[in-house]
Amino acid sequence: MNILVIGSGGREHALTWKIAQSPLVDKIFCAPGNGGMQDLAECVSLDLADHGAVITFCDENDIDLVVIGPEAPLVEGLVDSLDLAEIPAFGPTAAAAQLEGSKGFTKDLCAKYNIPTAAYGRFRNAEAAKAFINEKGAPIVVKADGLAAGKGVIIAQTVEEAHQAVDDIFGGQFGAAGAELVIEEFLEGEEASFFVLTDGETILPLATAQDHKRVGDGDIGPNTGGMGAYSPAPVMTEALIERTLNEIILPTVRGMKEEGMPFAGVLYAGLMITDKGPQLIEYNVRFGDPECQVLMMRLKSDIVPALLACAAGTLQEESLDWHDDAALTVVMAAKGYPGSYEKGTEIRGLDQAGTTEDVVVFHAGTTRQNNRVLATGGRVLNITARAGSITAARDRAYAALDKIDWPEGFCRRDIGWRAIARENEK
Ligand code: AMP
Ligand code: GLY
Repeated sequence: MNILVIGSGGREHALTWKIAQSPLVDKIFCAPGNGGMQDLAECVSLDLADHGAVITFCDENDIDLVVIGPEAPLVEGLVDSLDLAEIPAFGPTAAAAQLEGSKGFTKDLCAKYNIPTAAYGRFRNAEAAKAFINEKGAPIVVKADGLAAGKGVIIAQTVEEAHQAVDDIFGGQFGAAGAELVIEEFLEGEEASFFVLTDGETILPLATAQDHKRVGDGDIGPNTGGMGAYSPAPVMTEALIERTLNEIILPTVRGMKEEGMPFAGVLYAGLMITDKGPQLIEYNVRFGDPECQVLMMRLKSDIVPALLACAAGTLQEESLDWHDDAALTVVMAAKGYPGSYEKGTEIRGLDQAGTTEDVVVFHAGTTRQNNRVLATGGRVLNITARAGSITAARDRAYAALDKIDWPEGFCRRDIGWRAIARENEK
C-alpha cells in the first residue's frame, strides 16, 4: 500500500522510518518532509489548507492511508475532508481535535465527566478575568484558549504578572488563539506524559515517555517544543498508569463519544502527578515531538496495522510489542532557539553519527542541497539511541552526537536526568 505522511519534523521522520519497515508498505510520500525523510520517501509539496488538492493527490497516487503528524491540519478539519472522500486517515476530526484546539473545551469536558484537572474559569473580557485572579491569588496560570505553538501559557508568580498576561493575550499577542482565556489553579508535582491510541472506543496504551520542555540544563529557561525525551518514564508506575487510564483517559474517550464527536488517533495527555494523584494539564491530539522518536525506537511491532485500525474502528484486534530496552533522544537546535536563530548553516559528520549501533539521527529542520545538509529550523536534529537502561541510552546518544560537526547548533547535556537519578538509586 501507499502512505502519505503529513509534516516535516523529527516526529514525522520517526513515523516515516517506522512505517518504512512495514512489509505492507510499497511507497511513502511525505508532505512536505525534510532532509532526512528524503531517503525513505518521496517528498512532495502540497498546500495542506487546500483539502481538495490533498484529496486529488491521494487519488492520483493510490494513497491507502494518510498519517497526519502535527495538530494544525487536524484542528482545521483535514481528516473530515479525507473521510468524506473515503480516504483512510490517522487522526481525529476537527470536532474531536478541539481537545487540543480549545483549552476551554477540554476544561468543560473535564468538569462534565469528572476528570481531575486544575480548577478554572473561562473569560472573554479582561475585567472579569482580573477579578477572578484577585479572588484566587498567585501563583496562577493564564492560558490563551487556542493553538499558540506551545507559547500561550503563562505561569504567573504574582497577581500583577497574571493581570499583565491577561492584557497581553487580549491585546493580541497570540492573535485569534487569544480571543478567549482559561485561568486555572497552579498545580504542584512532577509532570508526566501519557499516550494512547484509540479508535473512539478501544484504548491501546503506548509505552510511557517524558520530554524536557525547558531550553536549559536543569530544566530552566524558556519553554520550547521539547529539547529531549526518554522512554520509559519511571515516574509513570503501573499504579499511576492504571489510575490515569481509569480516571482520565477512559472518561475522556467515553465522553467524546457521548458528545457525538468520537476521538480517533493518538491522544497525548500532559499530566501533573500531584499528591492527590494524576491531574490533566492538557491534551494534545497527536504524537509528542520528540516523544514520538523514543516511542518509535522502542516499538517492536509493525505500526501500520495499528494506524489503519484507528482509522477503521478495529483497534480491538490489535496489540503492540515493545523492546524492553530504554530509548533516549537529544535535540540539537540552532543557537538562539527558541528565540531567533540563523538559517542555512551546514551540518557535517551525520554519516559517522548515524552508523553507531542502535542510534538513529532523525531530522527535523533540515534540507539537503546537493550532498550538503543545511539547518533550516529551530529544532534541527534528534539523536536517538536505544540501550539496556536510560543511563546507557544517554551515553550512546551523546557519543553519537559528539561526532556531529555543527558549530551553529547546541543541545542540553542533561537529558534524562530525573530518570537517571532514579536508576542510580536502585
Ligand atoms: P500546556 O501547554 O497547557 O501543557 O502548558 C505548558 C506547560 O505549562 C506545562 O507543561 C506545565 O509545565 C505548565 N502548566 C500548565 N498548566 C499548569 C498548571 N495548572 N499548573 C502548573 N503548571 C502548569
Ligand atoms: N514535546 C511536547 C509536544 O510535542 O507538545
